[in-house]
Amino acid sequence: MDELVQALKRVLANEYAFSLKAQNFHWNVEGPDFPQYHEFFGNVYEEVYGSVDTIAERVRTLGAYAPGSFSRFSQLSDIEDQIEMPTARSMMEKLLADNAIVLTSIVDCYKIANATGHYALANLMADRQDAHDKHGWMLTSILKQRG
Ligand SMILES: [Fe+2]
Repeated sequence: MDELVQALKRVLANEYAFSLKAQNFHWNVEGPDFPQYHEFFGNVYEEVYGSVDTIAERVRTLGAYAPGSFSRFSQLSDIEDQIEMPTARSMMEKLLADNAIVLTSIVDCYKIANATGHYALANLMADRQDAHDKHGWMLTSILKQRG
């Protein structure tokens, strides 16, 4: 159970950090494609932020306290904090790399949940995998060079 709680807390911290970074980019992106990028980052952070409450309440369901502070999230998260403001393209690259990190933690949690009979939690992780697969697809498509 401890292993599952730890894995789920890591997913929560990663999702929160990923959402914050996407929101940071939503606020600060610049360039000729501003309207599309601003909206794209907005959609990403809203989707991911929409998942954190359910994940945190799952931690409570397992009998543990949900982390809910910047210091705890930064201890638990694998996502690097974004201080400098990158170019729009670099924002996409960073978010794509972070998306893969979030996905790794989701898959790890899924495996433990499944192996310990926590199937509802495994389903939630499968749903998060689906959402991040889509974010990854869109980021990859935006980054693709054509012609
Ligand atoms: Fe906004």
